[in-house]
Formats: sequence, structure tokens, C-alpha cells
Amino acid sequence: MKFVTCIRGTIIAFKTYSLINFDNMKTKNLILLVTFICAAFLVQAQRKTYEISIKRPKKEIPIQPNMYGVFFEDINFGADGGLYAELIKNRSFDFTNSPTMGWMTYGHVSVETTGAPFERNPNYLRLTNSGLLTGTGAINEGFRGIGVKEGEKYQLSFFARTVDDEAKKLRIELISYGTEIMAHADMEVTSGEWTKYRVELSPDWTDSHARLRIDLRSLGSIDLEHVSLFPEKTFKGRENGMRQDLAQALADLNPGIFRFPGGCIIEGNNLETRYQCTKSVGPVENRPVNENRWNYEFQHRFTPDYFQSYGLGFYEYFLLCEDLGADALPVVNCGIACQYATEEVCEDLEPYIQDALDLIEFANGSATSTWGKLRAEMGHPEPFNMKMIGIGNEQWGEDFPKHLEQFMEAIYAKYPDMLVIGSSGPSADGERFDYLWGEMKRLDVDLVDEHYYKDPEWFLNSADRYDSYDRKGPKVFAGEYACHDHPEKKNSFYSALCEAAFMTGLERNADVVHLATYAPLFAHVDAWQWKPDMIWFDNLRSVKSANYYVQQLYAQHKGTNALEVTWNKENLTGQEALYASSVIDEGKNQLIIKIANTSKEKRAVNFDFGKLKVDKKIGRQITLKGDLKVENTLDNPDLIVPTEKPVSISGTNLKAELEAESFHVFILE
Ligand code: AHR
Repeated sequence: MKFVTCIRGTIIAFKTYSLINFDNMKTKNLILLVTFICAAFLVQAQRKTYEISIKRPKKEIPIQPNMYGVFFEDINFGADGGLYAELIKNRSFDFTNSPTMGWMTYGHVSVETTGAPFERNPNYLRLTNSGLLTGTGAINEGFRGIGVKEGEKYQLSFFARTVDDEAKKLRIELISYGTEIMAHADMEVTSGEWTKYRVELSPDWTDSHARLRIDLRSLGSIDLEHVSLFPEKTFKGRENGMRQDLAQALADLNPGIFRFPGGCIIEGNNLETRYQCTKSVGPVENRPVNENRWNYEFQHRFTPDYFQSYGLGFYEYFLLCEDLGADALPVVNCGIACQYATEEVCEDLEPYIQDALDLIEFANGSATSTWGKLRAEMGHPEPFNMKMIGIGNEQWGEDFPKHLEQFMEAIYAKYPDMLVIGSSGPSADGERFDYLWGEMKRLDVDLVDEHYYKDPEWFLNSADRYDSYDRKGPKVFAGEYACHDHPEKKNSFYSALCEAAFMTGLERNADVVHLATYAPLFAHVDAWQWKPDMIWFDNLRSVKSANYYVQQLYAQHKGTNALEVTWNKENLTGQEALYASSVIDEGKNQLIIKIANTSKEKRAVNFDFGKLKVDKKIGRQITLKGDLKVENTLDNPDLIVPTEKPVSISGTNLKAELEAESFHVFILE
């Protein structure tokens, strides 16, 4: 018998007892004891059990197999310095605000352009040793340091030429944050023609803040370009690949869809700096460096060294989708730059539309088509089977639907089966939202992207958001959402719990909501601009947030058809602080129930699935629970993680205790 019950029983017992007069002490004590036990049982029996009924809805609600996925944006050092495994920052000396940013140079070092080997990256570095005692060389600081592990192998490569045709000696070193040398190699640049040189380095110890030094050991000059350092181990062993732990964290999410590369970065702070997908393919050395939209967006999180190398370009994105088993959802600029930053709208939309068409041809065209040929040359003759495309991001106003209409005409004319995703703007409601939804319906776009970064209350109050959506209208892509638990906007357990509660509404309305992706995905602990984020990392470690586990639980147990879950004949959307949804998985023959209890009290529930006419014998309960304010950190990554235990089923009922402030997934088979 629990403590609270006992206390309440005792109070009732004493109240009853004080009303009666007794002479005999023994009788008094006996009656007191009996009264106490009865009262305690009474209270116990009075604890409410929520009778929850689960049945098939009148009309089948199929769940899209790719419903839950990820939205990737190069924000918070998510690509360069994050998922993209390259360890050298500003490897081609083309950061527009300072060509040697990220490099500490000494001796005679200059930035040159004459005879540059890669047309789209015009700068290279000239090292001249004229015998100074200080020597000549350059040290790269990586992305807030270079993370290397003891005994692992790292592949260094660079392009170089001698200036006077005489061979030059180079010393390459990985150095610890102090000055100790962790690994070194001696090399010789032998040719006056640009040549690619490679060497393997293996450090003697681990350091998350190492640096790379290139020291010229001969008199005279050499030219250096595209200095690159990759761990030998990348995700799936891909060349020019992804950081293993971060990509694995994505794979563990079981994502159905992968939206990329943004977000605001596809818009750019102006049209000049928008993300240009067709420039992000082809030989990696010749992909132009682009200013990152988040370079100076937030003055309090100023990151002047934030650029996009395009090393993680559209080829790599498609390949990653394939490796993850996720459908690719590229998003392209719609001829409008970020409307928070500028009013710039393109004068001629044609090149923007052509970009989208070229992208589709790059992904799906035959190996003899112009862009399909490039894909084949890059190593992927088979098409990537791209099925959908997002046009624009957080647009608003009249230009957007006008542009979208022209994109749709051109895309459907060439690719009638392509799904086109429009936008409802940056907020979840209001004038702009209503206007754009009207326009999206008029244009009959396939899906409408909705974004909401809102507080916990909004998430809890919006669990029924889609219950009343037009069933005939375009489908919804909840493309960016996250619960912002103010003031710190931590990845607190509370934010995750609110998202879990809200997502029961996505699941229940899977006939309307076809796709959903949390945002943003990644953040470097030393270089972020925006939080909360799903996965945090430093140069060697990563941590999955409580929000990650919510996404994972939904994606891993998404089922095939949504069911009807009612309490008192109503959808459970927050009554008594309970939120529930349920699905059946026809393939796995499972009945899955998701339920969040956001109250400060324990809840007893009884799920009755008799009307489903399914025979379920064994079950397990996965629970996510913790202190509301707690978040997982790199040092304490397992504060909030799912735990699992078996549950017993009695006939066609499942009784369960839901702890206060907890989220549960029941899997019955
Ligand atoms: O996810 C961060 C940003 O939020 C995205 O770039 C943008 O689409 C939204 O405003």
C-alpha cells in the first residue's frame, strides 16, 4: 500500500474515530485499527482507472511508410564541422571574408590566384621559405579543433606544385592543443604541375582539439590547394563520407524521409548566397565555397568562420538517404531570398526552375542524360529514385504562390509523378498561414510544409490540431517543429514529453499528416546558433536528446494503420492530462499504443481492445521518463533513455500504471 494512500486512510480513520466515544481501551484500539484498514482500502478502491477503448476507425487510416524522418540543415556546424567528416576548415582558402581564416600562418605566406587548379575556388596558398629561422608554414585549427583518436587512421590529401620546378620537402604534423606532435609524415612535392599528394597519419593519443601543421622544409616556394583530412572510418566506409557516430545516430532513428539541405540556407541572406544544388555536385575540389546563412544571423552567436564547402553536396545527400533507407526530399530556392533578411525576389524565374529540373535529372535521369551522366561519373549509374521536391522554405506573400505555380507546371510537365511540396510560411497560424493554405489548395499542391517552434503549452493544446483538418485538401508535411521550453530552450525532458503528447495527434491523423520531421537536427556544442536540437556533438562525441528518443519511438513503432482511441467516447487529446494514439502493424502483427501522461500524478489505465478482434498474448512497455528539467549531455548522455519491461495481457485488456509525467509505448504481439 502506497504512502499517500496510507496517509489519506489514516486521516479518514482518525476523523471517524474521533466521532465515537469508548470506555474500554482495548476495544478502542481494535476499532481504530479496523477503521484504518477499511478506510485505506476505500481510498485504494477509489483511485480512478481510465477505461480506454481501442478500435478500428470507420474509414481506414493508412500510415505512410516514410511518415517520420529527419530534417537536415547546415546550421550549428551541422554539415561542415559536423556530419560531413572533413576535419579541415577552409580547405581551399576561399572563405570570402578572409581567405586564410582557420589557418595560422608563419614565415612568408601569401594567397594567390594565378594558375589556380580549380576554377570555382580561385585562391590557393603560396609558402615561401627564404631561410628565416621562424620557418614557413600553416596550421589549421579545424572546426573548433580537430578531433582525432589514438591509433585510428586519418587520410591527408592536398594539391601542390613547386614554383621553381625543384623538389621541396614538407613536414606534416598532427599536433595536440599544446605543442606536442601526435603524428607526423615527411613528404616531397616533386612537380611543377598541380598534383594530388596523400599520406596517412595515425595519432599516438586522442585529442578533441588537435591541429594540422604543414611546414616547408626546403628553401623556395610551393603552392598548396584543397588540403583535406578525413578519418579512414566514415559511415559505411564512403569516400568523402559522413562522420560515423552522427550518421549512425541517424540510421538508428529509422528515418523514412530525409529533408535537406535547409531551411533558411536554401533561401540565403540574398539570392547570391542561396544554396545552389547543381553547384554542389561534380569533383569535390571544384565545388564553390558559399557563405552560410547562419554566419552572422545571430550576433550573440556570431560565427564568422561559418561557410559551406559543398563537400556534403547533393550527391552525398542522395547517397546518405540510400544508406539510411530514407526517401530523399530536397528543397530548392523558389526565386525568393530569406524574407526575414531582405525583400529580394528574382527578376527571372527561369534559371531557378531550370535548377530544379536539373536536380531531378541528376537524381533520376538516365546515365546518358546531361545530369544523369554526371551522377554516373560520380559513381552512381542507377537513378536515386527521388520522389518529391520542396519548393521554397518559409515564404510568405503573393510572390510565392505565383512562383510555385510556374515550378509546378514545369515539373509536372516533365515528371508527372513527382510530388511537389509547397509551404504555409514560418508560423503555425495567422494571416500569412491562412492565405498560403488557401493558395496551396487552389494550386492543388501535393503536400504543404508547416513549421512550428512553440512553447510547451502550445504543443499540449495542439494535440487535436489535425482532427478538424480538411480530409480532401493537400496533405500536411510537418516539416519543422520543436517544443521550445523557455527560457533556456533546453532539450529538456519536458519538451520531449510535450512533443510526444502532440505527436499522438499526428499519428491519429495520419490520413492528413503524411510526413513529419523534428528540427533542427544537429548542433556542435562549441558552435551552435539555434537550440533546441535533436543531436548534440563535440569533435569526438555525440549525445541523443530526450527529443531524439521520442522521434525514435514513433519511427520504430509507426505501424501501418491508425486506430481509434477513445476515453468517454472522445479522442484522448489532453483530458485529465492524457494523450493517446494507437496503430496496428499488419506486417509485424502488432498492436501498438502510445500514451503520454503529463500530469503530476500517476494514472491507472485499462486499454480495452476487444473490438479489434485480435489475439494478443505477450506485450512490452517502453517508457521514457525523467526529471522535467533534465537534458542529456555529452558527459551524462543517459539521463533520459527509454527503458523496457514486459506487461501482461488479460484477454483483450491491458491494465497499466503510468507514472507521473511519462511517455509510454506498449507493443502487443
Ligand atoms: O531550423 C532552423 C530554421 O528555422 C530553419 O532554417 C527555418 O526554416 C526555420 O526558421
